Amino acid sequence: MTTIYQYAGLANTRTPGYGVEECAARIHHLAYAEERLMFLQAAHIISVPERDVKVLLARLQYEDAQHTDMLRSRLSELRVSKKRAASAPDTSLAVLFDEAIHAANTTELLASLVRVIKPALLAAYHDYLATTNDLADYPTVRLLKTIIAEEAEALRLLQAAYDDVVNSAERRAAADAWVDHLQQLLNAAGGIDGSGPVSSEAVALQRANEPYVIPRELTRDDAFPRVWDFYHVANEQISARLGQMISTRLSEVTVAEGLALVLCETPDQPWAFYVDLARHLWDEMRHSLFGEAAAEDLLGDRSAMPVRDFEASYLFEMTPLELYALIGIGVEAALMKYPPGKREEYEFCRDMAGYPLMRTFQDFDWADEVLHVNIARRQLKEWHHGDQAELVALAQQGLDFRASVRNLHPQSPLPDLGDRVVKRTG
Ligand SMILES: [Fe+2]
Ligand SMILES: [Fe+2]
Repeated sequence: MTTIYQYAGLANTRTPGYGVEECAARIHHLAYAEERLMFLQAAHIISVPERDVKVLLARLQYEDAQHTDMLRSRLSELRVSKKRAASAPDTSLAVLFDEAIHAANTTELLASLVRVIKPALLAAYHDYLATTNDLADYPTVRLLKTIIAEEAEALRLLQAAYDDVVNSAERRAAADAWVDHLQQLLNAAGGIDGSGPVSSEAVALQRANEPYVIPRELTRDDAFPRVWDFYHVANEQISARLGQMISTRLSEVTVAEGLALVLCETPDQPWAFYVDLARHLWDEMRHSLFGEAAAEDLLGDRSAMPVRDFEASYLFEMTPLELYALIGIGVEAALMKYPPGKREEYEFCRDMAGYPLMRTFQDFDWADEVLHVNIARRQLKEWHHGDQAELVALAQQGLDFRASVRNLHPQSPLPDLGDRVVKRTG
């Protein structure tokens, strides 16, 4: 008699499947594809104006960084050295991503993800799972179940975004042309896991002869009203202070965009740097979503409060090291001081505003910022070869630059929440 829990419930127990070398070769390709996807999605967070797509990219670049990390760890258990695991596999897959990152607009970017890269990746994972022996290769099987679930969800979300954005004959034609071109490059590489036949047909590059440089331009759709900056309000003006906190959280989108510059334009760092930056980036975008969700919840309209623009005018002008020292040391480390700092913001929401949703958000915002300070300390120590005093001076320079840019234009008052509060707090 057999039971469903024989073999600990594993299926695929008596087919030989792949050997260690074949598994490692495929995982090496897949980890590389995930890494390049992280860069592709992060690089376009700035250039994509559509708010909901911008935010989705921030989540997906983080998840793909995690996938890369999991697959790389697994590789090191398959007789592959750490150094080799972190290197690019022997494939022309690089060319596909070199070209894809030059997407000229949201249509091309989404077309590459939805119609070429992500479906190929998902199919390769399914293929791997269908073939490998579950008993022999269980650590990979378990990883892939998680990765497949996330990739399938990602593809559904991206497909919905694609359907919204690619909404005219002209855009459909542009998407088709870009897809045809990238598909040829994918075929020439023998597929995303390198297991297919490599076509000998030479594919001419259209754009990758030049490296992609992220445009230093603020792109926003009309999801939120925009102001240069807003006045600071004292805690005693409770509803105004709460409104300001919502707008400040919302405006962290620009910090996420600044971190995309650091992630994508700091080459040759150890892999751990990119994992940390991808996480930090997604956290700042989540903080922006805290503002969006609070506005929608409290005011019945996600666009009730404005987002401020001035941050882009200094962040986009800085080198990655200056930018990261400013965010990690100049701003975030300073937020650890109490009072005021992150703890005071949390206590304000709990004790003065009595607004449970924002209390939860600020509680986690505080925890995230503690993590970011630790990440920044760790990464800046490795990255910057000077001493701590030099880093502090660099951060101070950034703060001075921030202050001078901020004063270029007047601050605006925020909308008076007064009777717009549709939900009773407390
Ligand atoms: Fe934040
Ligand atoms: Fe942060």
